[in-house]
Amino acid sequence: MDYRKLAQKYDTPLYVYDFGEVAKNYAAIKKAFKARKSLIAYAVKANSNLSLLKLLANLGSGADCVSIGEIKRALLAGIPAYKIIFSGVGKRDEEIAEALEKDILYINIESEAEGHRVERIAKELGKVARISVRVNPNIDPKTHPYISTGLSENKFGVDIDTAKRLYLLAKKSPYLSPVGIHFHIGSQLTELGPIKEASAIVADLVRALQKIDIDIKFFDVGGGLGIRYKDEKTIEPYDYAQGILSTLSGLDVTIVCEPGRFIVGNAGVFLTRVLYEKHTGSKRFIIVDGAMNDLLRPSLYNAYHEVEVVGKEGEGEPADVVGPVCESGDFLAKDRPLPPTQPRDLILVKSAGAYGFVMSSNYNTRPRPAEVAIEEGKDRLIREREHFEDLIEKEIRFMV
Ligand code: LLP
Repeated sequence: MDYRKLAQKYDTPLYVYDFGEVAKNYAAIKKAFKARKSLIAYAVKANSNLSLLKLLANLGSGADCVSIGEIKRALLAGIPAYKIIFSGVGKRDEEIAEALEKDILYINIESEAEGHRVERIAKELGKVARISVRVNPNIDPKTHPYISTGLSENKFGVDIDTAKRLYLLAKKSPYLSPVGIHFHIGSQLTELGPIKEASAIVADLVRALQKIDIDIKFFDVGGGLGIRYKDEKTIEPYDYAQGILSTLSGLDVTIVCEPGRFIVGNAGVFLTRVLYEKHTGSKRFIIVDGAMNDLLRPSLYNAYHEVEVVGKEGEGEPADVVGPVCESGDFLAKDRPLPPTQPRDLILVKSAGAYGFVMSSNYNTRPRPAEVAIEEGKDRLIREREHFEDLIEKEIRFMV
């Protein structure tokens, strides 16, 4: 890819996504589950750009959404309501009502209180809410604690006993229809063991529910499939699918899988320009025009993203690649042996397609970057760069 041309045309900082790669990743996960009926419900939170969602819609993808905003994005992009799931640990009444009115596939329930709330809202609307219960199987996913969700110390899901109570409530209620079961133990998973263990626990629960005439149709295994940022040994989609399917013997269920990072993570890069280099007594800094407000993962999780100086080979004194934001925690990479740089050199930050733009902010009154898609060798703007005027639009009229 000619990053220099892209930077010239669209300026920096810039997100660039390879749509061919996205399609390839979607196909890989869909194929992995081909032994069963399956719905790949892309986790919109990973990257919610409308053009990207439209691409996935055209490929047949569903959507896993965690707000009514994400549901609206998915619908707008052409993902049909019957392929949309509403997850999340807290949902406002209005969001639940709107999801019911839009007749999405099901709502994931994450607490007893929420089960009762959804029932009440469905009753008020004269609807039957299709639900699934998010079970917390209390399994250590062995990933970063901030993105680990399957332990009882995490805020997500309910334990097995509570799940059973919720299914009994749903069975009795004329306003609830229990169609699914859900678990998601964490993100950036690189070990199959915990996934299999969790799946086996939840599959047993499905069997127990069958015995009391509760028939679960959708077995929702969440997302979490890890990708290679550096040298991680990742799980192959086929092994991932086989690991899960091996726990489902005797069960006639449709698999729902909610990958986010796997679909878009390595299909995107973040492009930023060198402003200048700075050497303090003990350290070399490469100061660039992209910052933590654009790509938060390094600052928030100490996440590793590979960086490259475009068109320059070789190594130099280890450097921190830092942005202009007024925080010591504002860095994109630390201690990398990068070659010497000149102002306007381009730095490529890799694996930035997932949880990149979506986690960006306007901190320090920095307009957010543009987003560009590469499709069959051609580049196409899919989100305009923000401008100062966009940032003050909602407040300027209140200034008296
Ligand atoms: N399903 C549920 C219920 C989830 O909570 C998540 C992610 C996914 C699916 C998608 O997971 P994925 O396939 O992308 O791993 N901002 C963090 C990641 C947070 C993930 C939260 N939940 C990061 O940048 O690493």
